[in-house]
Amino acid sequence: IVTNGEMEAELTAPPLVPKPIGKRSAMKLKVNMEIKEQEGTMTDGVKYMYWTFGGSVPGSFIRTRVGDEVEFHLKNHPDNKLPHNIDLHAVTGPGGGATSSLVAPGHEKVFSFKVINPGLYVYHCATAPVGMHIANGMYGLILVEPEGGLPPVDKEYYVMQGDFYTQGEYGEKGLQPFDMNKAVKETPDYVVFNGKVGSMTNGNELTAKVGETVRLFVGNGGPNLVSSFHVIGEIFDNVHVEGGNLINKNVQTTLIPAGGSAIVDFKVETPGNFIIVDHSIFRAFNKGALGILKVEGAENKKIYSGTIQEGIYLPEGGTIQKMPITATAKTVNPKRTVAERVKIGKEIFSTTCFACHQSEGQGIPNAFPPLAKSDYLNADSKRAIKTILHGLSGEVLVNGIKYNNIMPSQNLSDDEIANVMTYIYNSWGNNKTEVTPEMVKALR
Ligand code: HEM
Repeated sequence: IVTNGEMEAELTAPPLVPKPIGKRSAMKLKVNMEIKEQEGTMTDGVKYMYWTFGGSVPGSFIRTRVGDEVEFHLKNHPDNKLPHNIDLHAVTGPGGGATSSLVAPGHEKVFSFKVINPGLYVYHCATAPVGMHIANGMYGLILVEPEGGLPPVDKEYYVMQGDFYTQGEYGEKGLQPFDMNKAVKETPDYVVFNGKVGSMTNGNELTAKVGETVRLFVGNGGPNLVSSFHVIGEIFDNVHVEGGNLINKNVQTTLIPAGGSAIVDFKVETPGNFIIVDHSIFRAFNKGALGILKVEGAENKKIYSGTIQEGIYLPEGGTIQKMPITATAKTVNPKRTVAERVKIGKEIFSTTCFACHQSEGQGIPNAFPPLAKSDYLNADSKRAIKTILHGLSGEVLVNGIKYNNIMPSQNLSDDEIANVMTYIYNSWGNNKTEVTPEMVKALR
């Protein structure tokens, strides 16, 4: 609503951005933002106490144009425990606003600034301990459009990376407190887009249609890591390097500093899932920095053709995996009790199988079948042993659901396979078969 050349800014939570400003002239813009400390989900079963600008991580997206006079109202929700403030990199003035905005729970601070440099800017909390406030999610983006606006595109999205430090390892269940020690050492458990693992997967994908142009406003809240931002299967047609005026063309991966940004755009020419990652690749597959842009529409065989196999580029979780160093086929171990096999098998499972089949054998929908109460497993132990020995690919039906993926053969000894299979058969409601090294040897 515009009154007397004054307007309240539209604010959006990720992955959405406010409407383009385009040709409107500079005006007075009121920003009303409330800080909320609130519990949220980092990944399945893992909770985190996020500190947020506007109730989301990253905080609300603010869209302005050059010359706008911003009157910033920063509220600190009465239920919050701590004072906060805001430093906007779009501000020319002391502390980027931080010196004028320290606000206690239940209070509001107002300060004003004129945006004089176009670009995409990070904002963040700057209250001590600064790193802790940022690490808990207190960052977001403010866009300052140039005179006349940005070139129009079909889709615009808001994506912001951040690194998180929890007392438990990746995936450890429960409410996970912030770990300052890991933060100082810069060893995050989670590196994510938009505040959590899976913010843009499993039904929350970004979407576009073949032929459309997509613009991503990408930020990096840090607090520590620099992002090597990449979209698998796409090339950025234009990159506003570091969120400024310099435009680079035909870019595969763009660096986004902590406390920095980039605006990237590209035309999507073929359908498919385009995976958004930090190409420091363990962060993507093992710490959460993985999202999906889902493009629908007609195939364009001139640009790309080939059969499409599902299940490539899936998150793998945080388990440390080891490649076996010896081909250990020989040992047909002496006698062990079922209880011994279960104990040793559990360890093998949690280093070798768990990354795909998951800690409780529950699998990952559409990718890795369950081993818990698996009809496929329980129906035929020979077939299951062969799966471990030789791998498995092609369509399989497990508990009525089709999987069509690849399981690599596992380089384990007869005894190790006997132990891990006995553990699986004696867990999660399976049929308690004991697998012996002799049974494995016979099928090798
Ligand atoms: C299928 C066991 C490691 C991926 C299966 C099946 C079993 C099994 C018994 C048959 C289907 C079922 O009952 O659910 C094991 C054991 C492992 C192991 C004991 C460790 C020693 C892995 C790993 C991966 C993986 C590390 C991923 C890299 C798969 C996939 C299928 C499968 C994709 C289905 C294959 C298809 O669609 O044709 N696994 N697995 N498995 N496993 Fe594993």
